[in-house]
Amino acid sequence: MDRIVTEGGIQLKGEVKISGAKNAALPILVSSLLTDGRSTYSNVPDLKDIDSIKLLLSTLGAEIDTGGDVVRIDAGGLNNYKAPYDLVRKMRASILVLGPLLARLKKARVSLPGGCAIGARPINLHLKGLADLGASIELKHGYVEARADKLKGAEIYLDLPTVTGTENLMMAAALAEGTTHIKNAACEPEIEALAHAMNGMGADIQGAGTSCIKINGVSSMNPASVSIIPDRIEAGTFMTAAALTGGDVRVSDCEPDHLGSVINKLRLAGAKIKINKKSIHVTGPDEIISVDIKTRTYPGFPTDMQAQFMVLMSVAKGVSTISETIFENRFIHISEIKRMGADITVSGNSAIVKGVPMLFGAPVMASDLRASASLILAGLAAKGKTEVNRIYHLDRGYESIEKKFKLLGAAIKRVSS
Ligand code: EPU
Repeated sequence: MDRIVTEGGIQLKGEVKISGAKNAALPILVSSLLTDGRSTYSNVPDLKDIDSIKLLLSTLGAEIDTGGDVVRIDAGGLNNYKAPYDLVRKMRASILVLGPLLARLKKARVSLPGGCAIGARPINLHLKGLADLGASIELKHGYVEARADKLKGAEIYLDLPTVTGTENLMMAAALAEGTTHIKNAACEPEIEALAHAMNGMGADIQGAGTSCIKINGVSSMNPASVSIIPDRIEAGTFMTAAALTGGDVRVSDCEPDHLGSVINKLRLAGAKIKINKKSIHVTGPDEIISVDIKTRTYPGFPTDMQAQFMVLMSVAKGVSTISETIFENRFIHISEIKRMGADITVSGNSAIVKGVPMLFGAPVMASDLRASASLILAGLAAKGKTEVNRIYHLDRGYESIEKKFKLLGAAIKRVSS
């Protein structure tokens, strides 16, 4: 299995280009199932999760070809309504096919994704919303079995603003008869991007990006060309790395509007940040200042940036409290960062981070995607050599991360064993 080896202490300098967003690309590629023509997607990141969704879509009958960052999908041959365990267990976002399969084939059999390293992650709200749209749902032998001769527009209230839940329901409701309102919908930019892509295909969705989304069902949708929005979490990860190493980095091809909470916290931590139209220039401070963080749904501070920010706080002056309110088990990185000398104690869903002058390189183990990124950041800042093991998580969600850090001057390499 590959590992990433870093020699820390180098200030990152230069420009890094941000790739297309994984969490926007996944639902947008899935939305191709809503048409029977050939859609074209550009700025699609080259990631393991994208390979997984392409494999799932082709298993369902879609034809897919890829060239560079362009993916073309023709779901005219959609004929299989079953998403098997072996594919879904590799990537939870596979559950996104449930809504489109119901809308197009009137039935779906999709493996329950189960929990993962960061929490139990149930899909009850996806299922309740689909039932509100008129689907009958049964759970049998680890599978969701859903049927609906006709989906009908409905008032859906989500107990929690679930991101993929909102996306699943938007896709199901797009071809339903009548109007659907999703209340307490998630507001993440990836949802707005999906709605924009679907409206380009002939759907009628209003209010995406707010907590109340209105979907007027249409009888059919057409193929379209869609460019994937930049990855705000990848951008935030590089911005944090620049601040952490006292570097001077221009993060380009990004969307500053999507990064407000991260920019705010980095500024409070002492980083100098200049915002341009599609780029952000970050200059790290001489001394990092501790700030408190509470993860929130968008536009609050993203849970997907919590681990990376914790590494920044681990070498800040003072004490910072980092509270995780989205997932119940997203602190697994702490024991690994502590092995590098960090002083962190956990109390309930909060981590109390007492800044230390320096982290020290060590062999560490990655537990999930964002934890992997945080350990690489720790390695870039630490004195000496760090080996991040089990990095397959990283390849699920960061395109060429070690190459991008290398271009910024980092001493980083991938080693295959
Ligand atoms: N939840 C429920 N019931 C549901 C759905 C969600 O209780 O039916 C709970 C979850 O257990 C969690 C909270 O609601 O406590 C929020 O979960 P959400 O459904 O919003 O998360 P998700 O859609 O499964 C997406 C991203 C995650 C990101 C979260 C939160 C994709 C493919 N995944 O997950 O991304 O952390 O939203 O912003 O969009 C990552 O990229 O590393 C990643 C984990």
